[in-house]
Amino acid sequence: MANPTEDHFLKVALRMVDRAGTLVRDAFEQPTSNVETKSSNTDLVTETDKAVEELLIRGLSKEFPDHKFIGEESVSGGQKVELTDAPTWIIDPIDGTTNFVHRIPLIGICVGLAIKKQLRAGIVYNPITRELFSAQKGKGAFKNGFPIHVSKTEELNKAVICTSLGIHNLKTLGEPWLDNALANQKKTVLAGVRGHRAFGSAAINMVYVAQGSIDAYVEYGLHCWDIAAAAMILKEAGKPFNLMGRTVLCAGTPSLAKELSSALTHVEMETEGDA
Ligand code: IPD
Repeated sequence: MANPTEDHFLKVALRMVDRAGTLVRDAFEQPTSNVETKSSNTDLVTETDKAVEELLIRGLSKEFPDHKFIGEESVSGGQKVELTDAPTWIIDPIDGTTNFVHRIPLIGICVGLAIKKQLRAGIVYNPITRELFSAQKGKGAFKNGFPIHVSKTEELNKAVICTSLGIHNLKTLGEPWLDNALANQKKTVLAGVRGHRAFGSAAINMVYVAQGSIDAYVEYGLHCWDIAAAAMILKEAGKPFNLMGRTVLCAGTPSLAKELSSALTHVEMETEGDA
């Protein structure tokens, strides 16, 4: 059923994301500058990440003064991750910052909205390829206004899957974790997957599952801002999702998810924040 309030929230967010897209596209056309590292030398941030997050938070809080925010760069700056019942915008200004820095056009501006801790809307926008993915609870998932659907692939040996070594985990989880990640890659190859991809952006990996180009995706150690917006788009394909769980394993079909899951050795991650 239509919810005029949430329709309005999404409409405003789409307007802000469009503005943010112009900013990112302009920066993408310039030589790379001012790259800083955060938690490790594989965790990058640029002036553009910060400017986009500021633009989105400033614009949304002006329209919705009582809404809360969880933003990747604000958290890096010391803000706590706190998901309450209040309408909360979960923002990754550029998911795929390493791609952005290396001018690889696979990035997503991600804006998710949770109300009472449940995802209600999500936008993932790649301003370089001009692919706009969006979804609203109960209304389906769309790319540039057209409905999208997950693939119907049921077997691993017919699937193209996305995985990521997630090298950012090395610092916290150490070498045993890396051995496990490499072994998992090997297991999926031996299980006969049709192809392995790693696009360098969790959000892009997820929306590519949502549109059926990729059959499944697995990664450990993600944050809610990497996945909230894209999870909404996937949820609209009927998948339950633990937003604060720091792990993504998603697939077009339950049988593929089950086969992939049993081929892997899983990593236990602590849940995020105070959810
Ligand atoms: C990163 C990307 C990457 C994933 C990392 C994320 P960021 O997000 O999604 O694919 O492997 O875990 O941190 O830092 O570019 O926003």
